Amino acid sequence: MSSLQAIAKELLAPHKGILAADESDSTCVKRFDKYGIEKTPEQRRKWRELLFSAPNISDGLSGIILYDETIRQNASTGEPFAQFLLQQRILPGIKVDQKTEPFTGSPDEEVTKGLDGLPKRLAEYAKLGATFTKWRAVIRISDTLPTEECLRENAKRLAIYAKQSQEAGLVPIIEPEVLLDGEHTLERSEAVLTQTLRITFEETVKAGVELSGLILKSSMALPGKESGKVATLGDIASATLRAFFASVPKEVPGIVFLSGGQTPEDATARLNEIVKQARKQNAPWRITFSYSRALQEPVLKAWSGKDENVETAQKIFERRVQETSLASEGAFE
Ligand code: G3H
Repeated sequence: MSSLQAIAKELLAPHKGILAADESDSTCVKRFDKYGIEKTPEQRRKWRELLFSAPNISDGLSGIILYDETIRQNASTGEPFAQFLLQQRILPGIKVDQKTEPFTGSPDEEVTKGLDGLPKRLAEYAKLGATFTKWRAVIRISDTLPTEECLRENAKRLAIYAKQSQEAGLVPIIEPEVLLDGEHTLERSEAVLTQTLRITFEETVKAGVELSGLILKSSMALPGKESGKVATLGDIASATLRAFFASVPKEVPGIVFLSGGQTPEDATARLNEIVKQARKQNAPWRITFSYSRALQEPVLKAWSGKDENVETAQKIFERRVQETSLASEGAFE
């Protein structure tokens, strides 16, 4: 087994998933604003420490994705966060994509930046203790979007990133996020997810990426947030798995979901159902979570930036991790 495969295996361990704590400073500002939390590097450090030091979370978390600022910060013990996590048997990862830019020829679509100087940044992150990386592309659904050209450009960049990450010894998590925003149906979401993943893997294979040493981070197939449509757990699971079977090579060891603005309850119940159906259909991949908002939202609210709330907030986080971990085994009731 190559070292990339070994890291991927550890990230995809039974009962475990990944916490995405890689919000950029500007995203963190938006989340903090909601609860009147002061927007300073020290408050962000305290927030991340609250999450990373919550009791028993290594029972349900195999890895945590960090942001550039966080991987350079220390826990109160004085240890850099990456080392602090490694001591708890949690693998530290790092978000390496940067901002997005409008796509030439279709300005309502975006492509992700971050390839300039990437090998140098990857080498530095590896020195700082990172073992895996993440790159997110954003795919918007409308009556006319996404265009094949924009999907292809994002896929090419994802593939170049994945190849360079593997060359640096870091497992890439490729994340072509199909957004929940819009008025589309479940069927349209499934079609776009299928097309997005098909093109992503065409480019990934073309770039010579080792499929057994990468992880796919995907959206679920869901009706658009503004569609007014409700889909059953069974329909969501079937549509999502059809998209995966149609486009994700069996050599890929695992698929982790983003939560994308679903409520924590929905994100847990839907993961649970998808895993149950995946087992019945003998899916070749380990399927689990890499949630940010669905794990953090109730915790952030409980903390609201106050030291006296840390313990309560950590208990809520511990519980969210336990529930989501059960869902990753199809065992959440
Ligand atoms: O890139 C997006 C994050 O890693 C996942 O965040 O679970 O809030 O969608 P989310």
